[in-house]
Amino acid sequence: MNANQLRTLFLNYFRTRDHAIIGSASLIPEGDPSVLFTTAGMHPLAPFLLGEPHPAGRRLASCQKCLRTNDILEVGDATHLTFFEMLGNWSLGDYWKQTSIRYSYDFLTNHLGLEADRLYVTCFEGDEIAPRDEEAAAIWRDIGIPEQRIFFLPKADNWWGPAGATGPCGPDTEIFYDTNPNGPSAETPATNGQRFVEVWNNVFMQYDQQANGHMGRLATRNVDTGLGLERTLAIVQGVTSPYETELFLPLVDAIQTLATTSDAFAVRVIADHARAATFVLGEGIQPGNVDQPYVARRLIRRAIRYGWTIGISAPFLAQLADVVIHMFADVYPELEAQGAQIAAALDEEESRFQRTLARGERATNTLLVDAQTAGQRALAGQEAFHLYETYGFPLELTQELAAQKGLTVDAEGFQQAFAAHQEASKQGAAERFRGGLVERRPETIRLHTATHLLHAALRQVLGTHVEQRGSNITPERLRFDFSHSAKLSDDELRQVQDLVNAQIALDTPVVWQEMSVDAAKAEGAIGLFEERYGDRVKVYTIDGFSKEICGGPHVTHTGELGHFRITKEQAVGAGVRRIRAVLA
Ligand code: SER
Repeated sequence: MNANQLRTLFLNYFRTRDHAIIGSASLIPEGDPSVLFTTAGMHPLAPFLLGEPHPAGRRLASCQKCLRTNDILEVGDATHLTFFEMLGNWSLGDYWKQTSIRYSYDFLTNHLGLEADRLYVTCFEGDEIAPRDEEAAAIWRDIGIPEQRIFFLPKADNWWGPAGATGPCGPDTEIFYDTNPNGPSAETPATNGQRFVEVWNNVFMQYDQQANGHMGRLATRNVDTGLGLERTLAIVQGVTSPYETELFLPLVDAIQTLATTSDAFAVRVIADHARAATFVLGEGIQPGNVDQPYVARRLIRRAIRYGWTIGISAPFLAQLADVVIHMFADVYPELEAQGAQIAAALDEEESRFQRTLARGERATNTLLVDAQTAGQRALAGQEAFHLYETYGFPLELTQELAAQKGLTVDAEGFQQAFAAHQEASKQGAAERFRGGLVERRPETIRLHTATHLLHAALRQVLGTHVEQRGSNITPERLRFDFSHSAKLSDDELRQVQDLVNAQIALDTPVVWQEMSVDAAKAEGAIGLFEERYGDRVKVYTIDGFSKEICGGPHVTHTGELGHFRITKEQAVGAGVRRIRAVLA
């Protein structure tokens, strides 16, 4: 079985069980400033798990592009990936544990042909919030999983979510596959995560973690499941890592052809990072110093550095991106559409990195000469870390340059500075999550409606070539990226602002209606996200002005918005402009 067949088999399995198949949402969460990337299939569905009716119904399934960077330093071993695809099925207040667990088991054993004897499961052991999940365990026993392959584990293992600080969450039951059935019998999924590979997670989302720390109850009992495509494919194909499946092989081959020495770890890092960077750039992100652009930069520069270690010199990433684009052209056609921009961004970032390195080499030499002059035998760890942070100089490179001057580097001091920096960035990330996964504050809802008005106003003033390229809302402001090549004149900006304020003054009702994608198109609705909702979509109308496909929520009348003011207009890439605006 190949990857395409696995995706299709999964989606068809759930289609024939009355699930609507929804397309992958963007890797960049829409209207959700609390997280940088979509990290799970449930992420775009969070509003619906919290109770908003989903236009496609109460049974959904998808294959979602995901990116997780928390384990980036582990990438290179056999299991960790940054970019991955997650197959998932959802019940929004429809079926519950019995049906969900039976689907998973049936699919794994009868459709993928995994040996039932090699499946192990874990269930939630219970705490003050939720009881021990005897219900799930009883279902597993009933299915035929023997007692000794059912484990109860605490919250750290068997509770999933919320994805940010707030939102839907609940106990889960995880299914593991034993990759070494002849291994020691004392080993379990809790003691050996390499041997027992987690393939499928069934989360029973009944809870809502609230910002005040309170754990609320959701109005409905939902199921959220996730099956990792890459690791499942590796298991089905009987290979030891996703890098040996066709989801990576063409890329691995291309890297090995460029390399002059062999190092499996470096090849895997480059393969993972080239793939992830291609998908991130495919979302229209340009490498930069903060947020998603920073992640793109980090992936690219790590790939380049690992390239050096096996004799590959830049530029080479555009070539690898091309391989990735071809591999995924059928599943994610947006990559091909962005192909030229992806290649240009990679080339530009590679040459920028070369220039940075040349400057870094000069800075390193200055520091080394200073150290020599001061009679030191080693360069301080803090200084080596400064070179790493500012110029992307890995410790080994600094050590090499130091050795040429007869000096060493305080590697321990470097590691300490590195760890301190990581801790600080983790805290930064936690801060970011504070807003929670789904911002439902009145401020963000108002800015969301203002975004629709802005989008419609831009199309009236500039023309219908204006299309949304990105949207990001915080409680303070909206940010809207759209296709348009020229800088907006003061006059155009004023016209746009006046149009929006005129609509606010009219206090028009904001109404929504559910309809088919075709009907929405026939009515002239704009919006790029129809694929997210399968065949049924929600269309928000501000009569006589705006009609847009969107999941909501919105205000009920435009008058609630107050006064709209554009605070900034700038370019964010070739043919893409960005507007920031506030409501006062
Ligand atoms: N949200 C759960 C996970 O990411 C199941 O999809 O594992």
